[in-house]
Amino acid sequence: MKTDSLLEDIKSRLDIIELISDYIELKKSGQNYKAPCPFHSEKTPSFMVSPGKQIFHCFGCGAGGDIFGFVMKYENLNFQEAIKLLAKKAGIKLSGYRLENDLAEKKERLYAIQKEALNTFIENLKRSKTALSYLAQRGIKEEMLQAFSLGYANKEWKALYGHLKAKGFEDSIIAQSGLIFSGEKGLHDIFRNRIIFPILNIQGDTVAFGGRAIDDAMPKYLNSPETLLFKKGETLYGLNIAKDEIRKKDYVMIVEGYLDVIMCHQHGFRNVVAPLGTALTTGHFQKLGRFTKKVLLVFDNDAAGVAAAKRSIALLYEYGFRSKVLLLPEGDDPDSFLRKNNSNAFQAKLSKAKSLVDFILGLKGEKADNIRAAIGIIDNAKDLILREELFRELSEKSGIRESVIRGEAKKYGQKLTVGTTAAVSNAPNLPCNEDVLLLSAIVAFPEKARHVFENLNIDGMHTPAVKKIFQKIKSLAYNNSLDMNTMLNILSDEEKALITRLSLNPGFDVEHVDKNIGDCLKKIAHFELEEKIKEARSIGDLRLLSSLLIEKQKIARSV
Ligand code: UTP
Ligand code: MN
Repeated sequence: MKTDSLLEDIKSRLDIIELISDYIELKKSGQNYKAPCPFHSEKTPSFMVSPGKQIFHCFGCGAGGDIFGFVMKYENLNFQEAIKLLAKKAGIKLSGYRLENDLAEKKERLYAIQKEALNTFIENLKRSKTALSYLAQRGIKEEMLQAFSLGYANKEWKALYGHLKAKGFEDSIIAQSGLIFSGEKGLHDIFRNRIIFPILNIQGDTVAFGGRAIDDAMPKYLNSPETLLFKKGETLYGLNIAKDEIRKKDYVMIVEGYLDVIMCHQHGFRNVVAPLGTALTTGHFQKLGRFTKKVLLVFDNDAAGVAAAKRSIALLYEYGFRSKVLLLPEGDDPDSFLRKNNSNAFQAKLSKAKSLVDFILGLKGEKADNIRAAIGIIDNAKDLILREELFRELSEKSGIRESVIRGEAKKYGQKLTVGTTAAVSNAPNLPCNEDVLLLSAIVAFPEKARHVFENLNIDGMHTPAVKKIFQKIKSLAYNNSLDMNTMLNILSDEEKALITRLSLNPGFDVEHVDKNIGDCLKKIAHFELEEKIKEARSIGDLRLLSSLLIEKQKIARSV
């Protein structure tokens, strides 16, 4: 039997209310149940459980999911372990299921595909003058091409896909590799005309790819979507190469981009990693914790960089790490800094990295606010000895007596931690626009999904997080196999949280769902058309413009 049917069996025998009641006390509230959230600290309950939908969602921190998600989070288990635990609770013997083999087999084939892709990209690079000269012009030495297995994805639409087919991989597994996109015109390569940065796990297996455009294609950087092999929130670029040096130096430098990692390495700084275009999460820290508990954050010196540094440093201390922050001169990242200057200049900057207290006290804004922010972070630090040291340092540097600081810490207590816990769960705070409403409608009425997809041009959506979910659930919708369970199975944690939130709080008038769907589709079509019209105007293509305007009138009348 397959894993899917096992999951269904377990779900049919366990009730989410009973299950969660084994862990925390739930109170009935209307159709749902409520409790203070077990995943972040709060006084007013915002954790909801729906018996009808068999899901939970916290409106405070954004955590959400089904019974598997709950025990994974609460008991800190991986999916396999959660299945084992719940199967036992449900009285189901696992011996009849081939689940581990199924999964292991699938993973093996996905690894094999990544490896084929890696070899293809490396070979492509050797033969592409344009790609090689791009890398040379960016100052990347030849040794780095090998050290980081850099590659190149050709311009063709089906080069890699054709190669994988020729190697005997089936569409069903290719579609799950994160390398091939399933669009209206069938399957085609995701990475085209891009420099390829293979992303390896700690064991050195390729699990995903990043690609940088070498023309003005958008986006500038493209990463593989999450797959069975690749979780963005747990993967750091360069860690497999940097790990020994991290252990040796007993600290890790975290920079923002692929090229920053490579350039640092080229200049002799080899304890360097980068997240993959996402915020740092506890998943990243778990991976790093095996090698060191000290982190040097090197972020861009702009508002976004400073905010990210502040959030990351709070999270790091919360998880028992020590951390310093280095902000390079405005407009520079390690890559550009190293190219303009040299290793010695960079080393000099590194030695001037700011401690937690210096960094927070030096932030723009009111001194009192900064002191309070520092107290919040320190009060939340996991390492108690470190906490003592930091309070003392804060007192010395701010000129506020330690007793006053400690009094303040008591007064604010948990309140100050809210910001950091929210960052852990990464609750997506989305605007309520037509993309979100449409998703919400599908979540509430999965039977309408097919109609939605048949009338929707996903490219016209402009909320990236929602667009991504639509891309992921598209094939399910066309197969009429879209339901909450299947959706939760294929989405990332953050996406799951959005789905459970919308499920409990649709944000539209359920009575008039068809009209709502129609309105949303119209708006999205309109939005996309407006973009095209703008472009046609700006390049002065009158023929295109007039046909677009006719189309616009048509849409206004129809749908
Ligand atoms: P940046 O946009 O800061 O890179 O993205 P950069 O230094 O300017 O890039 P170059 O030097 O022009 O090549 C930093 C990192 O953020 C992610 C990538 O991981 C990138 O390395 N990113 C950026 C994306 O995932 N997508 C994007 O569109 C842009
Ligand atoms: Mn750069």
